[in-house]
Amino acid sequence: MPIIPTGVRGARIIGWGSALGNKVVTNDDLALTMETNDEWIRERTGIHRRSIGGTTAELSISSGGAALTMAGVDPSTIDALILATTTPDRSVPASSAKVQDALGLRCGAFDLNAACSGFVYALVTAHGLIAMGAQRVLVIGTDTLSRIVDWTDRNTAILFADGSGAMVLEATSGLGQLMSWDLDADGSLEELLYCEIGSTVQMNGKEVFRRAVRIMVDSAAKTMQQAGVTADQIALIVPHQANTRIITAACERLGVPMEKTALTIEFTGNTSSASIPLALFHAADGGRLKQNDLVLLVGFGAGMTAASALLRWGAQ
Ligand code: COA
Repeated sequence: MPIIPTGVRGARIIGWGSALGNKVVTNDDLALTMETNDEWIRERTGIHRRSIGGTTAELSISSGGAALTMAGVDPSTIDALILATTTPDRSVPASSAKVQDALGLRCGAFDLNAACSGFVYALVTAHGLIAMGAQRVLVIGTDTLSRIVDWTDRNTAILFADGSGAMVLEATSGLGQLMSWDLDADGSLEELLYCEIGSTVQMNGKEVFRRAVRIMVDSAAKTMQQAGVTADQIALIVPHQANTRIITAACERLGVPMEKTALTIEFTGNTSSASIPLALFHAADGGRLKQNDLVLLVGFGAGMTAASALLRWGAQ
C-alpha cells in the first residue's frame, strides 16, 4: 500500500467544471425501442434519465474550459493535461491533443484509460506530476459511451451515457488535499466487461455487480486505513455512479450512511470516467462541502480496475 512521503509537494483543487450530452433520453424513450420499462430500470439501477451527445473532445473542451474559468488562470500556465477516457474520438492521436489546442494550452497532454476508475487514476497521476515540479495540471474525465452501446441491447443500453468533469489542480506549499489513495486492477476479469475496437460493449452484468461491491469496499477501506481515518469521519463519499444498488451495498459495508453519499445516477446514468467528477462537483455546487471536510472518492470499472482517494476539501 503506497504511503505519501512526508514533505512531498501537494496540490489543491482551484476550479472545476461539468458537461453533459445535449440530448436527454428517458427510460420511456428506451422502452420505445427495446423490451424494458421505466419501473424496472428505476428499481434495478436507480436511473431515471441520462444525457447523450457530443464527442469526447467536445465535452472535455466544455468542462475543461469551465474549470479554467473558475480557477481564473491563464491557460498557458497549465503544465499538463490528463484526459481520462475509455471512449477516445480516434485511436490516434489521443483526444487530449484536440482538447489541449482548443483550450489554448501549451503543455504535455495525454489520454489515460482505466475505464470507470479513470478519473481517480488521473487525479493520483496529476499529483505525481505536481510532486515532480508541475505547477498546475488540468485533469478531465470524459466518456461518450452512447457511441459504443448497442441501442437494441437492454442489458447495457439502459445503463450507459455521456458526460465530462474537469478540475484544475495547483501545487501548494502545504500538504494539499490528497491524504491517501489506492489504485488496483485485476486483468484476469477482462472478459466481464469489454468492447472490441469498432464494436459495442459486452457485459456480464450479474458478475460485474457481484464483484463491484467487494472491490469498491476493499479499495475504500485501504485508503481510509492509510490515512488513519474511520468511516464516521467521512463527510461525503463519492462513489462511481453505476447502479444505486451497488452504491447502497458498498456504503452499507463501509459503514457510511446514504445521506453522506453523492448521487447523480438518477439523471446521469453511468458516464464512466466522468461519473465521479460529475457527482463530486454536483455536491460541491450544491453547497454540500465545507472547508476541511473529508471526501472519499471510490470507483470501479472494466479491467477490472478499482481506485479510491481521500481528499481534505479546501485544505491548502
Ligand atoms: N428491462 C426489463 N427487464 C429486464 C431488463 C431490462 N432492461 N434486463 C433484464 N431484465 C429481466 C431479465 O430478463 C430477468 O427476467 P426473469 O427473472 O424473468 O428471467 C430479470 O429482469 C432479472 O434480470 P437480471 O439480469 O438478473 O437483472 P439484474 O438485477 O442483475 O440487473 C443489471 C441487471 C445489468 C442492471 C445489473 O446486473 C447491474 O447493474 N450490473 C452491474 C453493471 C455495471 O455496473 N456495469 C458497469 C460497471 S462500470
